Amino acid sequence: MSERPKVFVTRVIPDEGLAAVRAVCEMDLWTDELPPPRDELLRRVAGRDGVLTLLTDRVDGVFLDAAGPGLKVVSNYAVGFDNIDVAECARRGVAVGNTPGVLTETTADLAFALLMAAARRLPEGDRYVRAGQWRTWGPMLLLGPDVHGATIGIVGFGRIGQAVARRAQGFGMEILYHDLHRVPDEVAEPLGATFLPLEDLLPRCDYVSIHVNLSEETRGLIKAETLAWMKPTAVLVNTSRGPVIDHRALADALRHGVIAAAALDVTDPEPIPMDDPLVGMDNCLIVPHIASASRATRGKMAAMAAANLLAGVRREPLPTPVHPPG
Ligand code: DGY
Repeated sequence: MSERPKVFVTRVIPDEGLAAVRAVCEMDLWTDELPPPRDELLRRVAGRDGVLTLLTDRVDGVFLDAAGPGLKVVSNYAVGFDNIDVAECARRGVAVGNTPGVLTETTADLAFALLMAAARRLPEGDRYVRAGQWRTWGPMLLLGPDVHGATIGIVGFGRIGQAVARRAQGFGMEILYHDLHRVPDEVAEPLGATFLPLEDLLPRCDYVSIHVNLSEETRGLIKAETLAWMKPTAVLVNTSRGPVIDHRALADALRHGVIAAAALDVTDPEPIPMDDPLVGMDNCLIVPHIASASRATRGKMAAMAAANLLAGVRREPLPTPVHPPG
């Protein structure tokens, strides 16, 4: 009988991680483009020493029951881990890992790309050209606000929020931030970032970029009441998690000019249903959760997720563990 640890990998990830797992483990790999359906996931995790999960896999008590007492580690191929009941894993002695750090700059790049694309109306311009509507240079065509010199509010001022601030500095922007915890002055000052409570920050911002973790405190953080605090010219960018924004309230705000535009990398649910009002709005740009999707970064995430998985099946400390709350 094989002594190799038994693991389930719930999707094909870059070879930087997969090769390492394959070399050491008896690996069951889910090769479909779509995630394993719930019943298949529960069937496949049974008797495994480790599982390499994606943010599309829910790891809860039912999952852990299905895996059984031999499960040692859940390694998430993401920095976010709101798909995992970390407290329940800890209670059962199952280590949890994630992939922090390696996707910070790539995610900040996309947040800034969304901000610029929404401000300068790039998707509308592209659609206009492809529809054959471009007949001449137009003095009033597709006007938008400036990005340089504007005020940005960064909500969630951890690694990624701070990386967005560095980009904003290059554009000469005024940088305001809000977070549950103020960052030390030695972090905020070099970035020229000023802390404000949300109700004081939102009315001042031309751009608002969201970078909070999804938790019970942040679910629905941006709702009708908070949107009403924003400028009618403001652009809202979300690369965190969809449920941080109340979508119905956002659609109403965009429809009635409460804010000018939104750019979303994440939605609630994912994928966004094609009959969601946001899909039909010209002033809402939506991309399919691709903030970390550079080849290099996805490779680094794969290597990190594999390292966590391999450490976990050996009962060694994970290189990048997720600690239970409290
Ligand atoms: C994450 O890592 O949490 C992103 O949402 C996907 O890379």
